[in-house]
Amino acid sequence: MSETVEIKNSALTKAHVRWPIITEEDKKAVLTVLDRGVFSGPFAPEVQALEKEFSSYVGSKYCLATNSGTSALHIGLAALGIGPGDEVIVPAFTFVATAMAVLHQNAIPIFVDIEPVSFGMDPKQLEAAITPLTRAIIPVHMHGTPCNLEEILKIAKRYKIPVLEDACQAHGAIYQDKKVGSIGTLAAFSLQSSKNLSCGEGGLLVSGDENLILRANRVRMFGEDIKPHDALQYRIDRPLDADRAYDSVTVGWMYRTTEMSAALARSQLKNLDYWNENARKNAAYLSKTLSKLPGVEVPKVPDDRISVFHKYRVCLDATKMGIDVLSKTVRDVMVSALRKEGVDAVLWQTQPVPGQTVFKEKIGFGKGCPWELGLPVNYDLMQYPETIKLLDRSLCLFSHTFPIACQPMEICQAYAEIFANIWNSIDRILPKQ
Ligand SMILES: Cc1ncc(COP(=O)(O)O)c(C=O)c1O
Repeated sequence: MSETVEIKNSALTKAHVRWPIITEEDKKAVLTVLDRGVFSGPFAPEVQALEKEFSSYVGSKYCLATNSGTSALHIGLAALGIGPGDEVIVPAFTFVATAMAVLHQNAIPIFVDIEPVSFGMDPKQLEAAITPLTRAIIPVHMHGTPCNLEEILKIAKRYKIPVLEDACQAHGAIYQDKKVGSIGTLAAFSLQSSKNLSCGEGGLLVSGDENLILRANRVRMFGEDIKPHDALQYRIDRPLDADRAYDSVTVGWMYRTTEMSAALARSQLKNLDYWNENARKNAAYLSKTLSKLPGVEVPKVPDDRISVFHKYRVCLDATKMGIDVLSKTVRDVMVSALRKEGVDAVLWQTQPVPGQTVFKEKIGFGKGCPWELGLPVNYDLMQYPETIKLLDRSLCLFSHTFPIACQPMEICQAYAEIFANIWNSIDRILPKQ
């Protein structure tokens, strides 16, 4: 690489904006907690305020703040009464946490393939996967684009199966005029540092069903029964353990979050719509520009949905350029060429989740658990051709550290130019067959 190119690349690298953006308001919010001296507790003021503000943002009645999106998913499943040997249907293309939460209830994840348009669970595959042991469905709004909820909910209703939306990547995304998270029986969000709404690590479970929230609340805190009037009696000047019953009524974990995290999440929530809009602007520019290139497929958002572009995934089809090279090879060459030019290109998942060792080898909790508790299941990856096709030929522009939501337009312009230059001469850098 010539010296000038290296300088240009390092300038581009330096120009990336790191996420999350911390404002003076954010700092003040956290300092207020430090000054107040109340750092934890299920009814502590920041946690309660976050729960109220986020449920109102989403348009759902109740909310519980947790320490991760995974724990929010887990307490959601526990609240639904998912137990040993039950089956829970999840998409094969997701983050492992969706299926891991199922294992934590000793239940069996059943993976189904995705639709190529939204990258979400394919409703036809979902219906085919339902058995008498199916107890829940977890559709995932991948990369911030809502999945086909109308069809999924129709099927769920017909079979009377609850739906737990995995909205961990989709804060503020809209499906048919409603925010995701307000549509299923329950929904889980992540506040991990890469998310459009973040506070380092954290999660939120929302639902319109008070009973489910009460059940989830027990599991969030050691299985202890926390009643609504406990919240009303909460006083900041009382010792945290003043009125505790110390009686666990179910298996529980410790999934509470801290006041500092809740305060930061509350402050960041005020800017969520702004960053979501910026993500959409950036994505619109990139899509308009990159879609002009033969063989480059940009993310499609169906007309009845609004994406928040937590990730921006591009599919490559070199055959449209008359190039007959394995799609994975083309993609890998493209990623390394983009990186050399200072573009932040990543893969984010390389195989269907059931291909990961814990599922492939059915390791789970050991002693056959949970699989021996239910019907035989098969995780043969041939069942997920759309997921494999997508993961073999796509890449994500931008990463967890430098996501699309907070980048200035100039970065997107530089990306589009570099991408086009490399793609238009890709045959020159591909390995000779
Ligand atoms: C689709 C999906 N589900 C669940 C999770 C888990 O969230 P967390 O990392 O906060 O536990 C993530 C986080 O990346 C995710 O992307």
